[in-house]
Amino acid sequence: MSVDAKQTGIRKKGSKAQPAPKAEDTSEAVSMDEVWIEGGRKLRGSVPVSGSKNATLPILAATLLAPGIYRFTNVPNLKDVSTMLELLSLFGVRSKRDDDHGLFVDSTNARNAEAPYELVKTMRASVYVLGPLLARFGEARVSLPGGCAWGPRPVDLHIKGMQKLGAEVEIEHGYIVARCDKLRGSHISFEISSVGATGNILMAAAVAEGETVIENAACEPEIEALAQFLVSTGVGIDGVGTPRLTIHGARHLHPADAAMIPDRIEAGTFLAAAVITGGDVEATNVEPDHLGAVFGKLEEAGAEVYVGERSVRVRAPDRPQALRVATAPYPGFPTDMQAQFMALLSVAGGTSVITDTIYQDRFTHVAELQRLGADIRVEGNTATVHGVPSLSGAPVMATDLRASAALILAGLVAQKETRVSRIYHLDRGYERIEEKLQGLGAAIRRVRV
Ligand code: EPZ
Repeated sequence: MSVDAKQTGIRKKGSKAQPAPKAEDTSEAVSMDEVWIEGGRKLRGSVPVSGSKNATLPILAATLLAPGIYRFTNVPNLKDVSTMLELLSLFGVRSKRDDDHGLFVDSTNARNAEAPYELVKTMRASVYVLGPLLARFGEARVSLPGGCAWGPRPVDLHIKGMQKLGAEVEIEHGYIVARCDKLRGSHISFEISSVGATGNILMAAAVAEGETVIENAACEPEIEALAQFLVSTGVGIDGVGTPRLTIHGARHLHPADAAMIPDRIEAGTFLAAAVITGGDVEATNVEPDHLGAVFGKLEEAGAEVYVGERSVRVRAPDRPQALRVATAPYPGFPTDMQAQFMALLSVAGGTSVITDTIYQDRFTHVAELQRLGADIRVEGNTATVHGVPSLSGAPVMATDLRASAALILAGLVAQKETRVSRIYHLDRGYERIEEKLQGLGAAIRRVRV
């Protein structure tokens, strides 16, 4: 019985791969696509960065708060954005993209409904509708997200925050069921900094009666962007961008337009790609202020970093230098750059130590990097990376969004060919990454196997 590539995922020698259509094709087609990379090219040139996925997702959820029409620009064409718009359509929210990253959203006729497990399990950020549904309709039924590739992803802080605002919250058959006739302002102090919980509580507090104070609020630029958007809809918020937010609940909110901030993680990924290949790359349409910690580590790795108004250029050393890095809430080194830096440091001169203080087990990319010849030891939430002179290309499997980016980076420098499968993970958070890397001289292509 002949087993074709579809079943094994591995092509027979010599058979010709078909060029795959664009990522926005049917999800089935995308799930069988792979990215093939011929390593060894130094990346050179300029690459435009798209709008931020993690700012877009909560801002889209916030359109449930005030009925009306919203116009957004610099919205990235990503699977996760499509998933959020699909989720919102279940609540009667209509949307229409234009062909240059513009997006119209109409929540005039939004009605309450359930955020179903089938959708929420594919994207944890779906839980962002909890606060807006509670705020607008007085009740919400949102599936618990379940775990992700690297372990449990609790939402207890979201739930505790809603309860502090006066909501009754039960967990029924895997769903968060929250009810509250009138949300009331409260003093909420998060024991740990949580991007999602801060965003959810911000949106619920936007229409709560009275004042809400959030202590230890997340300061990520994406949450600052959400707060600024809420202010533009009529919410009074003091301390935007700081760990202490004071929200003055508004009786009436109105729609507003917004331009999405640049995606700092996409930018950081391209800068890391420049360094791992020994290249010279300028990322444009970026907000350099959002990348301070990443610039510091790139310089520590031996790169020259030239910061412009809305761009940054990185010139790589012949070989990256080893370093120690620990992730931390913003403005610390982002956990979403941890996997990419592990790929970079796997070819550095010397031994590096990478600690992820945000997620204890965000290391699913380690086993795949080891297949490419990386020498990595993991103990708890710390990885020790002994830099090797070179990696060797092999078939590898993406396990989550940033792990897939790490495998692409490793493939750019590995000898011969690296084939990354399950790249639907990649399409969740990177817009046309293979085309952008081709533009920098990489020998990379998307193929259907
Ligand atoms: C956001 O996820 C990002 N996602 C993640 O980016 C990012 O890794 C993460 O923040 C940390 O920066 C979006 O913005 C859509 P958290 P979120 O709540 O909000 C624990 C990517 O690659 N926690 O800040 O889910 C949690 O387990 C994605 O774009 C609780 O214990 O992260 C983690 O250890 C991956 N209880 C820590 O807090 C809760 O109720 C930080 O998580 C919530 C979180």
